[in-house]
Amino acid sequence: VVERVYLVGMMGSGKSSVGALLARRLGWRFLDLDAEVERSVGKSVADIFADGGEASFRAHERRFVASAATGDTPAVVAVGGGAVTDSDNRRRMSKSGTVIWMRARDDTLIERVATGTGRPLLAGDPSEALRRLHSRRRPLYAEVSDIVIDVDGLSQPEVADRMLAALHRFASRAGERPR
Ligand code: S3P
Repeated sequence: VVERVYLVGMMGSGKSSVGALLARRLGWRFLDLDAEVERSVGKSVADIFADGGEASFRAHERRFVASAATGDTPAVVAVGGGAVTDSDNRRRMSKSGTVIWMRARDDTLIERVATGTGRPLLAGDPSEALRRLHSRRRPLYAEVSDIVIDVDGLSQPEVADRMLAALHRFASRAGERPR
């Protein structure tokens, strides 16, 4: 089994920054799916939404979740906050790796993404949009995740430490190494 860790959670939970840190600690590759989509399409996430709507972005995102799930090198994968709304994405992640939910309180997230810049789904009233999306997605993050890390008040290295510890506990419980 190829080792793979998926980081899921809302915008502002720290998936990209902590993901890079965790990958370095594990000596694994780091994949940021938003960045992969941007590179392949040659446009920013905001421009993809503006030109083709959310559906167009989700189609690209699905393609990259599928390719991350079948890749052949160990990797930490930061997955955009809305990818869990697609049941195929959830199934692919669960089957191919260990899924970590970076859980945060609304006020923590709102502080971090207050302006909504570069995040089309937060246009208008970012805190209201974030609360609404979060309440809809909470059950999906809970469903798909193997491990939950509460990130409120923690620095990025502290979050990465907790992830490493949790991955080791999870692997020994499952009787194997992190997938
Ligand atoms: C989205 C989150 C973003 C990006 C897009 C949609 C979402 O990723 O994929 O703007 O639906 O929550 P981050 O969670 O990395 O900000």
